[in-house]
Amino acid sequence: MNLKKQLVCGLSGLIFSAVMASSAMAAGVAQFNDKGELLLPQDYREWVMVGTQVTPNELNDGKAPFTEIRTVYVDPDSYAHWKKTGEFREGAMTVKELVSVGDRKGPGSGNGYFMGDYIGLEASVKDSQRFPDEPGNWAFYIFYVPDSPLVTAAKHHPTAECAACHKDNAATDMVFTQFYPVLRAAKETGESGVVAPK
Ligand code: HEC
Repeated sequence: MNLKKQLVCGLSGLIFSAVMASSAMAAGVAQFNDKGELLLPQDYREWVMVGTQVTPNELNDGKAPFTEIRTVYVDPDSYAHWKKTGEFREGAMTVKELVSVGDRKGPGSGNGYFMGDYIGLEASVKDSQRFPDEPGNWAFYIFYVPDSPLVTAAKHHPTAECAACHKDNAATDMVFTQFYPVLRAAKETGESGVVAPK
C-alpha cells in the first residue's frame, strides 16, 4: 500500500471510530434539549409495560405518600437487552404514569380500585457520560404533577429527592424490579416473559 492509500485508510478508520464513539454516547431513546432538559418521549405508551402498583389512600390514613396507581414502562431496546443480560443498558429509560383511584364499585367484576385520572408522569435515564456523578448513573425527572401544566422538557430532579430511596430499596441497579413481574419473568431468558416469574 502506498503512502497516500495508507493515509486514506487511516483517516477513514479514524472517522469511523469517531462516528461509532458518538453513536455509542447517543445510545438509547432519551433526547435532551440544549439546556440539558429531558424531552418527553411521545411514544412511551408503545414501550413495554413492566408492572403496576397500587397504594390506595384508604390503606394509608387517607393520603398515600405515592398517589395511587402507578404503571411503569421500559423502552423496547432496553427491554431486549434486559432479556438477554438481566441488566439495564447504557441509555436505558423508564417512564412511570401515576393515576388516581376512580371507581370502587366494579360492573360485576367485584369492588376494587379502578383507574381514575392521570395525576403524574415521571422518568429515569441511565447515562454514564451525561451523569457520571449520579448514583448508578441514573437521573430522575418529573413531567407532570397535579395543578401544573404538563411539561415536554423536564429538568433533572435533585438527586436527594429521588435517587436515595431507589438506591436503598430497589432490587436491581436502582430499578424496582422486585415489583415488575414482566422483567422478572424475562430476565436472562431471551424470551418475551410469557413464563412464570423467577
Ligand atoms: C420513598 C421511595 C421513593 C422515592 C423518594 C422516589 N421513588 Fe421512584 N419509585 C419508588 C418505588 C417503590 C417504585 C416502584 C414503582 C412504584 O411503586 O411506584 C419507583 C419507581 C420509579 C420509576 C420507575 C422505574 C424504577 O426505577 O423502578 C420512576 C421513573 C421513578 N420511580 C421516578 C422517581 C422520581 C422522579 C422521584 C423523585 C421525584 C422518585 N422516583 C422518588 C420509590 C421511590
